Amino acid sequence: MAQSHLRVPPAQDLLIFGATGDLAQRKLIPALYELSLQGLLPRKCEILGTATKELGDHGFQEIAREAVQQFSRTGFQRDGFAEFAKRLRYLTTTHDQVGTGDKLAKALKLPRRLVYLAVPPSAVVTILDELKGAGLARGSSVIIEKPFGHDLQSAVALNVALHKTVPEDRIFRIDHYLGKETVQNLLVFRFGNTLVERIWNRDVVDQVQLTVAEDIGIESRGHLYEETGAIRDIFQNHLLQLLALTCMSPPSSFDPEALRDEKVKVLKSIRPVDPSEVVRGQYTRGSVNGAMMPGYREGEGVSPDSTTETYVAMRLAVDTWEWAGVPFYLRCGKALSTRRTEVMLFCRDVPLHLFAGTGIEHLTPNRLTIRIQPEEGISLSFMAKQPGATVVEQPVRMDFSYGQSFKTQPAEAYERLLHDALLGDHTLFIRQDETEAAWAALEPVLEQMPRITFYPAGSEGPEAANSLLFSGAWHDLSHHADPRATRG
Ligand code: BG6
Repeated sequence: MAQSHLRVPPAQDLLIFGATGDLAQRKLIPALYELSLQGLLPRKCEILGTATKELGDHGFQEIAREAVQQFSRTGFQRDGFAEFAKRLRYLTTTHDQVGTGDKLAKALKLPRRLVYLAVPPSAVVTILDELKGAGLARGSSVIIEKPFGHDLQSAVALNVALHKTVPEDRIFRIDHYLGKETVQNLLVFRFGNTLVERIWNRDVVDQVQLTVAEDIGIESRGHLYEETGAIRDIFQNHLLQLLALTCMSPPSSFDPEALRDEKVKVLKSIRPVDPSEVVRGQYTRGSVNGAMMPGYREGEGVSPDSTTETYVAMRLAVDTWEWAGVPFYLRCGKALSTRRTEVMLFCRDVPLHLFAGTGIEHLTPNRLTIRIQPEEGISLSFMAKQPGATVVEQPVRMDFSYGQSFKTQPAEAYERLLHDALLGDHTLFIRQDETEAAWAALEPVLEQMPRITFYPAGSEGPEAANSLLFSGAWHDLSHHADPRATRG
C-alpha cells in the first residue's frame, strides 16, 4: 500500500449516490478536489453525482464549490477548482430509484466505474438491483459506508445481498479510521522497528487502553443516532479496527489479503464479551470547553426517555498466544471533556525495586502512547534520575510529533481511501469476514444491553467505567503534554 501514493488510477467513472448529503459535502467532494489538485484522479474520469434534489450539472458544481470552500484541507483555489469542476455531472433520481439504472447506463461512458453508496443502509440493495438490472454490475466496484448491518445476522444478510451483484474483490467497505496516517503508522511503528516488536506482547505489557473520545455531542444527527448508539457507531468498527491493528501478528507480506487475514485472526480471538464487563453511558446537560451543551435526551430527534448509549467502555480479552491474560480496556464517547484518540500500552512493573529505602517507593511503569489525533505522534514515558546528590526519580517523556518531524499536514483519510479504491487496492478496507467477526464478538452485549448510566457533558464519562479496571485507572483524558518531554 505504501507505494500507491503517487500512482494515477486507470480510466473510470465515479458515481456518487447521496451526492448532496452531508458526507459528500464534508468529506467526499473536498477529498476528490484535493486528489484533483495533486493530479491523482484518473485522466479520464467523470464524477457523476446523484440524489433526489432537483439540480443540473451547474447546480451540482455550485454545491461542490461551497463544499470545497468550506471543508477542503488546503483551501479553495480558483483555477484548481475550475479544472476539477469540469468533471462534475449530476443526475436527479427518485426515492424509490425506479429507472435510475437505465438513466445511468445512458449517462456513463467508460466500461469501468466506482460506485460510492453514501446512502442509508436501507437504500443499498435497491440501488444495487437497479445497477444490475441495467447491466451496470459488470465493471462496477462499490464503496459502502458503515454501518455494515446492525448486528451479526443483518451483516451476513447484507453481505449475501451485496455478493448477488458484486463479488467481494470489487467491494470496498470503508472505515475512515484506516485512512488516517497515524493509524497506518501503527503498522510501520510495530513492524519497521526491531525494538518495538520485542516488547509488544504479554511479556512486557500489563494492560492496554484504547480511547476514541469526542468533545462534540450528536448535534443534528439525533434521529440517526437513536438507531445506532456508540457501540454500533464507533466501537464495532473504529475501535475494533484499532484493536486488530494493535494485536495482529506480523503478516507474511504487505499484501492486502495477508494483512486482513491477520486482523481477522485477532477479531476471531476476542472472547465473546460478557455484558457485566460493559458500561454504557449517556450524557446529560453539562459544560464542554466552557460552553453549555444540552443533554442527549434534549436533542432534536431523540426520545425524551431514550436509552441509546453515547458512551461505552468494555474490558476485552484477546485469546492469542501473544496477548492471553492482558486486559484490553476500550472506551468511546461523545460530549467528553476533550477530543482524543489514542492507543496506550502500560508496561509491567520492574521485577525488583532496587531503589526501595532511598525514598523512592513507587516507580511509574513505562508507558507507550500512540496518539492518533490530535497532536499526532508517539511518546514513551520512562523513569529518570533527577540531577542532584540524592537518587530522586521522576517520569519523563520522549516524544515524536508528526507535525514537528515531518513539517507537513497529513492528508485527510478520505483522500487516501478514495485514491486506493480508484486504484483497486483493498489493503485499507474491511473484508466480509472482518466485519462479521467484529459483530460476532459483540453479540452477547447486543442481545443483553447493560443498563444505561449517566455522565455530565464535559466529563470523563460515567464513574461506573472505573469498575472495569483490574488495576490502575483510565488514562486521564485532559492530560496535557509534559513540559519535561524531550522532542525527537
Ligand atoms: C464517524 C461516526 O464514523 O466517526 C461519528 O459516525 C464520529 O459519530 C466520527 O463523530 C469521528 O471521526 P473523526 O475522524 O472525527 O475521529
